[in-house]
Amino acid sequence: MFITFEGIEGAGKTSILDRLCPALSDEGISFVRTLEPGGSELGRSLRALLLDKRYALTKEAELFLYLADRSQHVREVIRPALERGDMVISDRYIDSTLCYQGHGREMNVERLIRLCGFSAGDLWPDLTIIFDLDPEISLERARRRNLEAGTTVTRGRFEAERLDFHRRIRRGYLALATQYPQRCRTVDASRPFDDVYNQVTAVLEGHGISLD
Ligand code: TYD
Repeated sequence: MFITFEGIEGAGKTSILDRLCPALSDEGISFVRTLEPGGSELGRSLRALLLDKRYALTKEAELFLYLADRSQHVREVIRPALERGDMVISDRYIDSTLCYQGHGREMNVERLIRLCGFSAGDLWPDLTIIFDLDPEISLERARRRNLEAGTTVTRGRFEAERLDFHRRIRRGYLALATQYPQRCRTVDASRPFDDVYNQVTAVLEGHGISLD
């Protein structure tokens, strides 16, 4: 089973994964936790380029770096794990491209769906959990996280972007949830951490993954 976690920056998906993964291990579930960009060795170099604000990447260059990262990630990490019978949980995947490059950078979403399918060898997730939150709250969380890590706003290209941009991304995710109701589940990420965690475990339970 291939599960992806999605949402705008600071929505809390990474912290939830930090709590969820040990719980999955305790249940004896074999899984691989991975992320985009940066899930493969090549991807880690691409990630450094993508998140470095020194480069004024064109939106097309940015898109193709994300797609290159994904292609390598699917081929080297995700498919082999699924073929071994492991569950795969990825922190971001195709929907990030559809929402950030599509809705955020205003590139044609239908074309992006085709390009994403091409770069990912048509591997779509079985389940996508979307962390939904007002960008005003999430950007404040992201800023705090960066300050605590001593990395300032230059760490992420997008965290310095306008609120409007993130509002479009949020709307993109909500549109995806409507467009793909079979695979997408939305959780209310404005709730306290334990509550968000419980929403996520309830979704997993609905997909046959119980954590007690
Ligand atoms: P990251 O630090 O991993 O952010 P987060 O912790 O919020 O996941 O940075 C990943 C950034 O890359 C994030 O701003 C979203 C962006 N992104 C895209 O724009 N397109 C994509 O296809 C992917 C995978 C990520």
